[in-house]
Amino acid sequence: MYKTLIRPILFKFDPEEVHYFTFSILKNFGFLAKLFLPKPIEDKRLEREVFGLKFKNPVGLAAGFDKDAKLFNELSDLGFGFIEIGTLTPKPQPGNDKKRLFRLKEDSAIINRMGFNNDGVDEAIERLKKNSLRQAQTDKILIGGNIGKNKITPNEEAVNDYKICFEKLFPYVDYFVVNVSSPNTPNLRELQDKKPLTELLSTLQNLNLEKPKQKPILLKIAPDLTDEQLLDIIDIVKETQIAGVIATNTTLSRENLVSENKSETGGLSGKPLTKRSTEVIRFLSEKSGKAFPIIGVGGIHSAQDALEKLEAGASLVQLYTGFIYEGPELINEINKAILKQL
Ligand SMILES: Cc1cc2nc3c(=O)[nH]c(=O)nc-3n(C[C@H](O)[C@H](O)[C@H](O)COP(=O)(O)O)c2cc1C
Repeated sequence: MYKTLIRPILFKFDPEEVHYFTFSILKNFGFLAKLFLPKPIEDKRLEREVFGLKFKNPVGLAAGFDKDAKLFNELSDLGFGFIEIGTLTPKPQPGNDKKRLFRLKEDSAIINRMGFNNDGVDEAIERLKKNSLRQAQTDKILIGGNIGKNKITPNEEAVNDYKICFEKLFPYVDYFVVNVSSPNTPNLRELQDKKPLTELLSTLQNLNLEKPKQKPILLKIAPDLTDEQLLDIIDIVKETQIAGVIATNTTLSRENLVSENKSETGGLSGKPLTKRSTEVIRFLSEKSGKAFPIIGVGGIHSAQDALEKLEAGASLVQLYTGFIYEGPELINEINKAILKQL
């Protein structure tokens, strides 16, 4: 129903407006979605224990969709096994000027240059508090907190921004993601270099170790890293003993695109990214000897795409662009395929 009825209507409008529109529909009429959508698959065999957390199924929502933690309950009702909020920054910021989100329909892709638009970490915490009240309940959804730095913070002071977000969010999320791979905050990707990245991750991991109970810290990387840089990432993850890696964020590559919007500035996501992000997962998994868990994300538009990422070494997967193009049914399709494969 989504692809034949709903998507053709939504795709007639500006993508960012549609994003906010669907948000308010889900927020206010989420109960209707429950009536129309197939019931999320619940099966013990889909449960996964990864970095000490128990996921009800391995299909999550990637960062950037629910940046401000406004909709995690409704999204959880669609069947996601976990939701990643953010990227959050210490202070609220508006992001880049509009227009900053573009559909590439013929390529089943998106280009975005949102630039970490978010209400700031404090606002998100107020919303997350409601989830932590459900702590004892079985329906509590696992939430990852994806953190970044404000645009105005120079890279030399970036560690401080990540520290602020880490400390403030600590009681309210289940795992952390250190985002140094968005192409839309000037020079952010330079923090992926060995020296600043080791410093950033060891600072956060030391803060983590001071807590009575640690939370998993993951690093989210770009698909545009060279093999040499990926080998550095493996060393850094091992050295700092963080819990794992999310591969990958959006790409700067523009290979083989045909859509009108192909020359827009920003990060490209969706089908053109499928192969490269799977390659990165396989490389990290093989070269590290499966030393740490990987969450696979990038161009999952079908159950087969997800299975390939799991086979390449991912323990869990996440969706963003595929969720927009294929609709919420994709979550069930992937979970069904995983069960069928058992
Ligand atoms: C509009 C948009 C906004 C995004 N915002 C973020 C973000 O704030 N933080 C982040 O780590 N990734 C962000 N991403 C990247 C996604 O989480 C994901 O890594 C990427 O899109 C590749 O997956 P996909 O091909 O399934 O979309 C964003 C992606 C899109 C399309």
